[in-house]
Amino acid sequence: MGSEEQVRVLMVTFSYQGHLNPILRLAKLLVSKGLHVTIATTEVARKQMLKPKTSITQDTTRVHFEFFSDGLTDDFDRQKYVSSLLESLEAAGSKNLSNLITNLTTEDKKFSCIITNPFMPWVVDVAAEHNIPCAVLWIQACAVYSIYYRYFNQPQLFPSLENPNEAVELPTLPVLLVKELPSFILPSNPIHFNKLMIKFVQNLGKVKWILGNSFNELEEDIVASLASLKPIIPIGPLVSQFVLGKEETVTAASLDKWRAEDSCIEWLDERPPLSVIYISFGSITELSQNQMDSIAAALKNANRPFLWVIRPQEKKSTELPSGFLEATKDKGLIVKWCSQEKVLMHPAVACFLTHCGWNSTLETVVAGVPAIAYPEWTDQLVDAKLLVDVFKTGVRMKNEEDGTLTAEEVQRCILEVTEGPKATELKKRAMALKDAARKAAENGGSSDQNVNLFINEILGTCF
Ligand code: UDX
Repeated sequence: MGSEEQVRVLMVTFSYQGHLNPILRLAKLLVSKGLHVTIATTEVARKQMLKPKTSITQDTTRVHFEFFSDGLTDDFDRQKYVSSLLESLEAAGSKNLSNLITNLTTEDKKFSCIITNPFMPWVVDVAAEHNIPCAVLWIQACAVYSIYYRYFNQPQLFPSLENPNEAVELPTLPVLLVKELPSFILPSNPIHFNKLMIKFVQNLGKVKWILGNSFNELEEDIVASLASLKPIIPIGPLVSQFVLGKEETVTAASLDKWRAEDSCIEWLDERPPLSVIYISFGSITELSQNQMDSIAAALKNANRPFLWVIRPQEKKSTELPSGFLEATKDKGLIVKWCSQEKVLMHPAVACFLTHCGWNSTLETVVAGVPAIAYPEWTDQLVDAKLLVDVFKTGVRMKNEEDGTLTAEEVQRCILEVTEGPKATELKKRAMALKDAARKAAENGGSSDQNVNLFINEILGTCF
């Protein structure tokens, strides 16, 4: 193997939107640096794949795709029965992935590295079976990696999880209440996730690199605190190149599950700068009727335009309050899905009411848009804490003691993040982080250097 062009990397992920997006963005970044990248994901993604509009077909400017079966039938509800999906994926997927690697390997075409999603820890074993060095792309905050790592390696740092009043003090993180920890490690949560994370941590010895979708300037202390344990290498933010003010040079199929309604960008063009409240809860979270009613009531009363993503529902039906659409038709737009990065980068957007999935969290940071943090589960609780107490670019929207959300609380947060001295402070800080993100990703920036080092190390292992 003599040049970077010959270096082949295989990336493996399952087909959740929040996992596909960072994998795809890293794939494009590596291709832009001369590597040949294939993404292997489950058959489900093949069905939602939209071919790129441009017809560039050169091997060196595109990401390649391969698909393998997760062992389940087409009509299986993967969103509802996540534990069954993960179990089947491990049993059937590891065999199917191994066969795929064998089929894609020849004497002169070998994979120099496999980069996997952390929630498929069995891929590490498949990589070892084929004698291929393995990296993990940690798709959540480095802070969350730190929490999982310590939870499984240093359990004495964690007080009794059954006691919700206990606080957890971990190096370089703000004090976390137990209810602010990733919900997967709470005893009340499905055991399978626990098993996955235990296997992930147990398998770390076999993983050569942990790459983090973050940047040093954002989580510097956390990254430093892990340096003597199992270091995480920040190579992000993994966002589209235009967000960083760069040209997109690599094409790839879109893997969005829903088609973006681009007309919302024209709608934003008509709104004044820093006026619009953008609301979206990612690709999984579904609001309860109470949450939808309270957000709708606050938006109806707010003296501002809003853009709200309400995905087609899969599980249950919640409805907008009657008369809401009519009453807000002059100031509001509801779409099923949008190009979120384009929306967040639009000058008309003032703030983002978000569930704090890590992609949304990072995208709002990189766009310099202050957030209203309303997390639901898993890592989102930590991300909300980071936005409010560490990055200082957001406010926390809270439920009442009985778990309900009030319209007054939504209104309070909208006001706090858009008007007055606190809003000015949040925006100033958000703009500083936007600038830091761009610097990290530009040539010679901290993340760019880390990516180049990673590539050089892969090159080193090829000879
Ligand atoms: C999941 C988990 O829920 C989350 O906690 C974890 O951090 C990542 O995996 P998800 O809930 O979908 O992700 O949220 P998020 O991480 O924010 O990812 C959603 C992605 O969909 C973002 O990249 C966002 O830009 C994109 N999106 C969302 C759109 O492109 N259009 C939309 O209308 C809404």
